[in-house]
Amino acid sequence: PNLQHLLNLDEIASTALQLLSPKAKAYYHSASDDLYSKTLNSTVYSRILLRPRIFLDCTTCTTATTFLGHKVHLPIFVSPAALARLGHPSGERGIAEACNTFNAMQIISHNASQSPEEIVRDMPESMVFGWQLYVQNDRKKSEAMLARIRHLKQVKFICLTLDAPVPGKREEDERFGNIGAGAPVPSGIQAAKGTAKVSETSASPTTTGVSSPPPKKSNDSTAGPGAGVGRSLFWGTAADLTWRTTLPWLAQHAPKLPIVLKGIQTHEDAYLASLHAPQVRAIILSNHGGRALDTAPPAIHTLLEIRKYCPEVFDRVEVWVDGGVRRGTDVVKALCLGARGVGVGRAALYGLAVGGSEGVERVLEILKAETETCMRLLGVKNVDELGMQHINARAVERD
Ligand code: FNR
Repeated sequence: PNLQHLLNLDEIASTALQLLSPKAKAYYHSASDDLYSKTLNSTVYSRILLRPRIFLDCTTCTTATTFLGHKVHLPIFVSPAALARLGHPSGERGIAEACNTFNAMQIISHNASQSPEEIVRDMPESMVFGWQLYVQNDRKKSEAMLARIRHLKQVKFICLTLDAPVPGKREEDERFGNIGAGAPVPSGIQAAKGTAKVSETSASPTTTGVSSPPPKKSNDSTAGPGAGVGRSLFWGTAADLTWRTTLPWLAQHAPKLPIVLKGIQTHEDAYLASLHAPQVRAIILSNHGGRALDTAPPAIHTLLEIRKYCPEVFDRVEVWVDGGVRRGTDVVKALCLGARGVGVGRAALYGLAVGGSEGVERVLEILKAETETCMRLLGVKNVDELGMQHINARAVERD
């Protein structure tokens, strides 16, 4: 497809869904149970109204900001999403190249289909990457991985995902994830999972094969209901993490790297996380794109809760959000509510599927242009000026 003819993220998504294999489509597109959280993630934005001001000079406008003190050109980042090579051979490295072009932040998934070394190799040291961790039952594997990550200058923080200690029930993935013989993930496109050997090309396998569950051990089987690509990736993930034990363990094994906690869905947990500053430097309000617990709140609701019950959280940690972002106006609304950054998950994968790295560039280009247009029509020159005065969120506050 001619990328310039794709005018918005929905058009990129629908084009991608036509191009992807049934397995990749099911894995990327799926969400838990009845998809209420996935749907709400997007629709909630349309219920927040903007309040544009007039007679303000908006000849220039910049989307530049900082994450954890590092300069980026966009308040938009790429959220960690597994198995980019399922959709396009250039994989997570292709996403990284697009982020480099736009000086945008990318968080590399624990279950990336390429090793972190391969993804960041030769990228400028000024680029901002995070590396997302699913702590493994076998802590030694996670510790070995953290030791590797510490050597990568481009990786500025560890993003610990906490909203999915067990996999959600993603029926679309369960239905189609098993198409094809053998393991749910095609050989050569398995998750690096921290045991990856650094492979020389993106086309060669980057794993020792741990992403497929052993056949007979549990009902997380590779065939039939209860299976699927998503579920197979959870094999070995620890479900016994706690505030008391996990953060000290991380302090020991990633001593200098700031921690970002992903998957905060209540003001109570946002507050608890903020008590762990400065080890914890940011939180990501997220319901995992609706893929973990269905009817869990969209990040916008959690943002509003934090504003109401514990606004001091915004002073202690950076608050980032993701889920359902499709328009520049969505980005601006989240920033108005106090978010510092706004992540996209599926949009980056769909962009990659449509045009490799250039497809992801197109996604970022559209979001940047839409964000700038929105800011200028509000009468705002930079992201720091955005605030509650620019929105009417009463319809959502009443929920
Ligand atoms: C994800 N997400 C995710 N999150 C994470 O912490 N680690 C991971 O490995 C993955 N993998 C993953 C795969 C796929 C295919 C999707 C769609 C999502 C969740 C992701 O980081 C993010 O929270 C959501 O994707 C945000 O919602 P949108 O932008 O997809 O609506």
